[in-house]
Amino acid sequence: MAITISFSRGAISALLLLGLPIVNAQSSSVVVADVEPAATAVSQTEAAGAPLQSAETLQLTDEVVDRIVSDEATSEYAAYFAFEDSAVSDENRRRTTQSCKTFPGDWNWPAGIVWEIFDLLLGKALIPTKPLGAPCYDSQWGKKDTAKCANIVSNMTNANFISADPTANYWPIFQGRTCQPKSDTAGSKCTIGGYPEYAISVRNVAQIQLAINFARVANLRLVIKNTGHCYLGKSLGAGALSLWTHNMKDIDFLPNYKGPGYSGPALKLGAGVSVREVYEAAEKNGVTVLGAVSWSVGYAGGMITGGGQNPLAGIYGMAADHVVAFQIVTADGRLRTVSEDENPDLFWALRGGGGGTFGVITSVIIRAHPKMNVVTAKWVLDTSNNNLEKYWMAVRKFYDEFLNWTDEGLYSFYIMWPTPQLSMNYMFAPNHTLESYNKVVAPFFDFLKENNVSLSTPHTTTAHNSFYSAYQSTWGGNNFPIGVDNSIPANRLVPRRNFVEKYEETYALIKEHVSSGKHFLGYHNAPSNAGPHIANQDNAVSPAWRETVFFLVTSSNRSEPHATPKDLAARSKHLQEEILQPWRDISPVSEGGGTYLNEAAVDEADWQESFYGGYYPRLSEIKRKYDPNDVFYAVTAVGSERWQVLDGEQGTQTQNGKLCRV
Ligand SMILES: Cc1cc2nc3c(=O)[nH]c(=O)nc-3n(C[C@H](O)[C@H](O)[C@H](O)COP(=O)(O)OP(=O)(O)OC[C@H]3O[C@@H](n4cnc5c(N)ncnc54)[C@H](O)[C@@H]3O)c2cc1C
Ligand SMILES: *[C@@H]1O[C@H](CO)[C@@H](O)[C@H](O)[C@H]1NC(C)=O
Ligand SMILES: *[C@@H]1O[C@H](CO)[C@@H](O)[C@H](O)[C@H]1NC(C)=O
Ligand SMILES: *[C@@H]1O[C@H](CO)[C@@H](O)[C@H](O)[C@H]1NC(C)=O
Ligand SMILES: *[C@@H]1O[C@H](CO)[C@@H](O)[C@H](O)[C@H]1NC(C)=O
Ligand SMILES: *[C@@H]1O[C@H](CO)[C@@H](O)[C@H](O)[C@H]1NC(C)=O
Repeated sequence: MAITISFSRGAISALLLLGLPIVNAQSSSVVVADVEPAATAVSQTEAAGAPLQSAETLQLTDEVVDRIVSDEATSEYAAYFAFEDSAVSDENRRRTTQSCKTFPGDWNWPAGIVWEIFDLLLGKALIPTKPLGAPCYDSQWGKKDTAKCANIVSNMTNANFISADPTANYWPIFQGRTCQPKSDTAGSKCTIGGYPEYAISVRNVAQIQLAINFARVANLRLVIKNTGHCYLGKSLGAGALSLWTHNMKDIDFLPNYKGPGYSGPALKLGAGVSVREVYEAAEKNGVTVLGAVSWSVGYAGGMITGGGQNPLAGIYGMAADHVVAFQIVTADGRLRTVSEDENPDLFWALRGGGGGTFGVITSVIIRAHPKMNVVTAKWVLDTSNNNLEKYWMAVRKFYDEFLNWTDEGLYSFYIMWPTPQLSMNYMFAPNHTLESYNKVVAPFFDFLKENNVSLSTPHTTTAHNSFYSAYQSTWGGNNFPIGVDNSIPANRLVPRRNFVEKYEETYALIKEHVSSGKHFLGYHNAPSNAGPHIANQDNAVSPAWRETVFFLVTSSNRSEPHATPKDLAARSKHLQEEILQPWRDISPVSEGGGTYLNEAAVDEADWQESFYGGYYPRLSEIKRKYDPNDVFYAVTAVGSERWQVLDGEQGTQTQNGKLCRV
């Protein structure tokens, strides 16, 4: 293949200083002939006791880099793509002192021809960003297309639709709220905002290695988008190169797996597999796995690295405890096996220390467990049939019973509304029969009966003989709220201690929170730390998770549509100071409290302590060791205190700006 590329003159003398290739041209063109994808099929067939997935057998090796060096069409640019430890890279190591990551329009932003060659080396996988909402506007991407726009708007509550776009994200606030898909676009415009400049549709490991080398050498901001679920905007980044892992969908069931620290049934999952796809594969093979409540969340990306709170936690602990090994490409461009036996420090950090920090995971191997019975239930308590006094009497009994329920392995997800209402939607009782479940909850429902408290939706129960059936009949059918652009979520992990030593104060705060007009989503959620079913808990999952019994998610007051940054800032301040602070005060980190880093407010003060507890120093050291130059940055991730996104006045920390050293 021969292609012709035109480009205009860049800041060429500066490139010379960096030892980077100089494109000797002033509105001229070059002919790039026969540039092959920079990938080779390796002879290695397995790692950590499991076969390499097909995406993992295609790699960037030293031989391939040598080919880039010797090939006439690419030799001039080879330094951009070489490994950290390669001789070609030597002269480029000086450049990392720049105070900001290179931004489009900067003098040292790679010239058009470099991107063209990069794309050819990737095997044509580079996608210049076109915002999902572009058809709703007249913009640089074309004229407004009302029909197309309507289609997009009507699909914005469909999580799969957003995941399937290379750059779209679930929470527009962090993109800077430009180019939002809306039929009413008055007063707003379509710019690229916090979306990355380019995304790579990743199909193999070689592309990840090449992108990491390129980002490291050219000092580009690098982000990873799996689904775009992140509540803090970690999968966005203005001016960035993004690795879109969505299409890495391989799932291998390994019934007789023997690996480091574990023998038994296991699943190996590519980086792009979603929670629902994992649950489906487990059901098909007659096993049970641990994962998120929301089916559209990615499995091997943000969820597993953040810890993975899950409905089976009462028996098995956190999802991350059940990881056996990872394959990951680190900042030096090398693919590594990470397990108890290989790179054990990284193995510790990747299970709980957060996504987008230590490298790009290409697959994960997880333990699979026997099929189990689950009882699910739902009910609603409110004041349609009870007076306020009776309502609160019943709520008090509900919390009096709280620990008894979590001690029996029960998990729940309920909302307390200020109306007032307690909507149990749903209760999830793993490894219970109807009989054993009813025995656990009898004191509560007997109490309601004795006191003539009547539920507005009666208590209904269903017995299932598999996790999947139970999941499908509960959250598996939910459409979780997404695309909210006027409110910020936040959470608190409340330890057992609060229900033992500080129960009266804790209950009073629950009552006060709701009585003053706020809502929360509450969970019975006490990840097990002992017993025959826990796996490997020597990992970086926040120490707070080991003490939690009650998980609470709330959010800022909603602003009007098209809220101004000033308005958002006021809501965010109110969230931090009025809504969250009482919860921090009553469950401080020093007493076992904390915050789940995956469902948190991006403006959380003292995030190092509340997200990572006492593990932060050790995580920082591991970050320094594997990524000394901060190739990876994500807001509130380990090491991120060295950087800031200069986003101007957005009302909260967005990804709509240059990334610079603090
Ligand atoms: C409606 C909803 C429900 C949720 N329910 C749960 C729940 O029940 N339990 C739970 O634990 N969490 C839950 N979460 C939180 C969820 O785990 C996080 O949002 C998580 O970050 C999503 O990961 P992702 O890979 O899908 O998202 P993305 O936004 O694509 O990525 C999030 C982060 O992970 C990093 N990342 C992605 N892929 C990789 C990779 N291959 N290698 C390294 N880093 C990577 C990214 O850099 C980014 O920092 C929920 C979130 C939402 C919005
Ligand atoms: C989006 O919504 C429209 C209409 O509701 C539907 O016909 C279409 O198939 C959906 N999907 C996509 C990808 O546009
Ligand atoms: C909770 O369970 C314990 C032990 O079974 C029991 O003694 C206690 O009475 C229960 N609590 C309530 C409020 O019923
Ligand atoms: C489920 O319950 C049975 C009977 O009580 C018990 O033997 C088994 O260990 C439990 N399994 C899990 C995974 O908790
Ligand atoms: C509940 O209602 C019954 C029948 O109406 C009544 O006899 C009983 O006293 C009531 N009990 C309470 C605690 O209110
Ligand atoms: C938030 O909502 C509550 C309850 O409606 C109200 O009392 C409070 O004034 C609001 N605060 C802000 C900053 O919006």
